Parts: sequence; structure tokens; C-alpha cells
Amino acid sequence: MICYFSATGNSKYVAQRISSAIGEESVSIEGLNPADLSGEKVFGLVTPVYYWTLPRIVSGFLEQVKLNDPEYVFLVITYGTTTGACHSNAAKILSKNGVKIDAAFDIRMPDTWTPMFDLSDPQFVAE
Ligand SMILES: Cc1cc2nc3c(=O)[nH]c(=O)nc-3n(C[C@H](O)[C@H](O)[C@H](O)COP(=O)(O)O)c2cc1C
Repeated sequence: MICYFSATGNSKYVAQRISSAIGEESVSIEGLNPADLSGEKVFGLVTPVYYWTLPRIVSGFLEQVKLNDPEYVFLVITYGTTTGACHSNAAKILSKNGVKIDAAFDIRMPDTWTPMFDLSDPQFVAE
């Protein structure tokens, strides 16, 4: 299963692209019970970076994730400028429940931190 959090669509788009490429269902973490994931053999998380780390809703979700002998665990960060400590923080949280990340990826997308970036500029958004 591919779980994602997406406030403005970037991470949802990435999760759906991966989902159609590898044939794993993608589901928003909102309304998903992390306790129901224990049987998943493939677990992917797609998340934006917020202030150089995981959004609070995502770290709270990860704290509850317990997997039973997964075959492949991956993390995909969508970001605008820099991912900061996102990877290591996710790894730290998951390791508390014995989950190891097999692979991690960063995908640069339009930066949605609007105090700094003007998303009404079509050229910036398309870059
Ligand atoms: C509150 C907030 C904080 C952000 N902090 C960062 C950051 O520290 N580093 C970064 O590269 N991008 C940052 N971004 C940009 C997002 O991580 C990026 O645009 C992401 O792809 C948005 O994903 P979403 O559309 O799935 O929510 C921030 C965006 C928001 C709204």
C-alpha cells in the first residue's frame, strides 16, 4: 500500500503515479487506521516536507505504524527547496516500531510555501 498526505496535491499526484507504475493501491492517511497496515508487504509513504521535517499529521501517523515482516518499505518526499531532516526523522520514528526504510527518494515539485513563493506565476509552477 502507498500512503500519502497531501495538502495541495503534489504528493497525491506522485503517489498516484507510483501506484499506477507498480500496481499498489494509494490511500490518503486521513481516515486511515495505521493499525490496519500490519499485513502490508509493501509499504510506501509519500509526504511533503514542512519546515525541514515531516508534517505533524504524518509523524503522528508514522508513530502508530506497525508492520509484520514487510518486504519493501519506501519513503518519497516531495519538496520545493530543501528536504532538511525529513528522511532521518522518518527513519527514527519508524525504527521505534522495528520498521526499516529500504529506499528513500526526493521529488522536487512547485514549492507551496506561499509566504515565499508565488504560485500564481504559471512559469514557476510549471518549472
Ligand atoms: C507550511 C509549509 C512548509 C513547507 N516547508 C518546506 C521546507 O522546509 N522545505 C521545502 O523544500 N519545501 C517546503 N514546503 C513546500 C512543500 O513541501 C512542497 O511544495 C510539497 O511538494 C507540497 O506537497 P503537497 O502539495 O502534497 O502538500 C513547505 C510547504 C508548506 C505549505
